[in-house]
Amino acid sequence: PIILIVNGPNLNMLGKRQPEVYGRETLADIEAACIRHAGLAGLDVEFRQSNHEGDLVDWIQGARERAAGIVINAGAYTHTSIAILDALLSAEVPCVEVHLSNIHQREDFRHHSFVSKAAKGMICGFGSHGYILAIDALARLIRGS
Ligand code: DQA
Repeated sequence: PIILIVNGPNLNMLGKRQPEVYGRETLADIEAACIRHAGLAGLDVEFRQSNHEGDLVDWIQGARERAAGIVINAGAYTHTSIAILDALLSAEVPCVEVHLSNIHQREDFRHHSFVSKAAKGMICGFGSHGYILAIDALARLIRGS
């Protein structure tokens, strides 16, 4: 099976972007770790990033044909995007939400997530390790379904 790992705006800047909040690893480092870890569970990874909301919607729509599940860090669109929520609600595959930072420890405007309405669960605050935890959670959901 294939899992889709979708990353939203500004996550291409990881490593350079507020390292005190988001860590020093790059998105390429996270991608490599995800591919390695998912491989242990027999899962192939399609790892994507875009700064454009519509790209994320297109990829999520494509998941129903191609992927067994979705891991998503929608970045700031988490807090604003009904379009991404609607795409996830129609995807008909399990979804796990991830955030590098603990969004509940931060500004009030980061506390609400539209993505959470469509996700089985959410992992936040563990930095890049959250992606690994999300893959484990998703692998279980896929096996159980
Ligand atoms: C983030 C948290 C969001 O509030 C923020 O806009 C991001 C990254 C995280 O991974 O911690 O871009 O999703």
